[in-house]
Amino acid sequence: MKNTKEIQAPKGFPKGFLWGGATAANQYEGAYLADGKLPSVADVQPHGIFGGPQEDQPFYPTHEAIDFYHHYKEDIALFAEMGWNVYRTSIAWTRIYPTGEEETPNEAGLQFYDAMFDELIAKGMKIMITISHYEMPLALVKKYGGWDNRKWIEFYMKFVRTIVDRYRGKVSYWLTFNEIGNNVNYPMMWMTAGIRADSENLEQKCFQASHHQFVASSLATKYIHETDPAAQVGSVIEYKTMYPITCDPKDSIVVSKCKQKSYFYPDVQVRGEYPSYIWQYLEEHHIEIEYEEEDMRIIKENPVDFLSFTYYRSRIAGKDYIESVQKDTNKSDALVDGDQLQIGRQDIVSTGQTNPYLKLTPSGWSIDPDGLYLALTDLYDRYQVPIFIAENGLGLKEELVEGTVEDDYRIEFLTDHFTAMKEAIHNGVELFGYTYWGPIDLVSNGTGQMSKRYGFIYVDRNDAGQGTNRRYKKKSFDWYKKVIASNGEDLSND
Ligand code: BG6
Repeated sequence: MKNTKEIQAPKGFPKGFLWGGATAANQYEGAYLADGKLPSVADVQPHGIFGGPQEDQPFYPTHEAIDFYHHYKEDIALFAEMGWNVYRTSIAWTRIYPTGEEETPNEAGLQFYDAMFDELIAKGMKIMITISHYEMPLALVKKYGGWDNRKWIEFYMKFVRTIVDRYRGKVSYWLTFNEIGNNVNYPMMWMTAGIRADSENLEQKCFQASHHQFVASSLATKYIHETDPAAQVGSVIEYKTMYPITCDPKDSIVVSKCKQKSYFYPDVQVRGEYPSYIWQYLEEHHIEIEYEEEDMRIIKENPVDFLSFTYYRSRIAGKDYIESVQKDTNKSDALVDGDQLQIGRQDIVSTGQTNPYLKLTPSGWSIDPDGLYLALTDLYDRYQVPIFIAENGLGLKEELVEGTVEDDYRIEFLTDHFTAMKEAIHNGVELFGYTYWGPIDLVSNGTGQMSKRYGFIYVDRNDAGQGTNRRYKKKSFDWYKKVIASNGEDLSND
């Protein structure tokens, strides 16, 4: 029998491919106390996600962000002009349950999303919602601590039931947690699960928090499937493709162990089970997860429908890194920027070494479109479920010149990443959509800066919060529009 055209993988992006952009409420909306909203964990972190809360600072970038709350019609019109058919954002938990403990939701908060969603639908976009994107109610964290407290499951589920009931039929895709797993991967990021980096038994707490998030995610998946059978639920993981630093098999073993830590989250959420390597890891590290009898059944019975991931860069690792870092084991806070990496608390850190084959962004992030190809094939081969790229992008300092930014570097970055996506699709990966991160300049999650700009749209606002908030199209705006109009076929930059 010969191969027929029908059974060959598509050469281009499939018909109906979803093209759009991704944002998160706390980095975009501003209006942090409007219409009954109260502060979230993001609102007390003036310098981004690393470090704990600081409640005595003169300026907090998320409080006003770029004021999408009052510009949503204008911004959605620009998104529609680019031809998007999907928009990913999050719902600020504190607009709906300002302290997290109210018995009834805040109607004004719900109405804001009603209006915004209606606008998106009217402009022909599907809506993808991240239920929790680093923006838990601050009041809950202050009273109950982080997600290692089992009470969070019910607080989260109350929020889920409210928004799913309200937006049933409007939201097509729900993502239960942004970058689930980052509380374990980066324990110094208090915003992910509300656990302070200086806590005793930090790793134990982080794994316990993850367990509660797994249960919460599965309960949310069950509730969404029962309430709105047309909607689909996905997991979002952070994924950095990893290479061994040499072809020494020992380096590849290190990489393989590192990768297991990334797989842990989709293994549970897609396959529905804790993998054996994690039980082994927990035992070796004297970590005991407390769980209730029915937790594992809930996880098993409610896998996600698709897997999404955020992809910005790749990393390298090897046995010598572990050795150099293990001398320094308990210093978790000093890590993470550029290509530095921490997995677990004491495991493996690449000590600032960069991959000599790759260019770096000004923030030291590697630019690696081949890594995206590898991520796609790796995840699809392992899980065999539809895949979605929830975030990808290039952020750097930019200046407005005569009302625009000639961001050819962004066009080049995207051309290479879209080519890699096409190649992965051709290789059989069931990729159904892509949302570019920060399609409009917004507050950086990592640093709290406005000046780390990702957008196709420039926003006149600086790191000190000064500016008119006016929006300007960069060169990449029209380029992305052309790419979408050709469903990824025309990547030329003329
Ligand atoms: C992702 C987060 O990890 O990276 C986003 O989900 C974040 O919230 C994005 O903004 C880019 O990181 P940064 O630090 O450049 O804003």
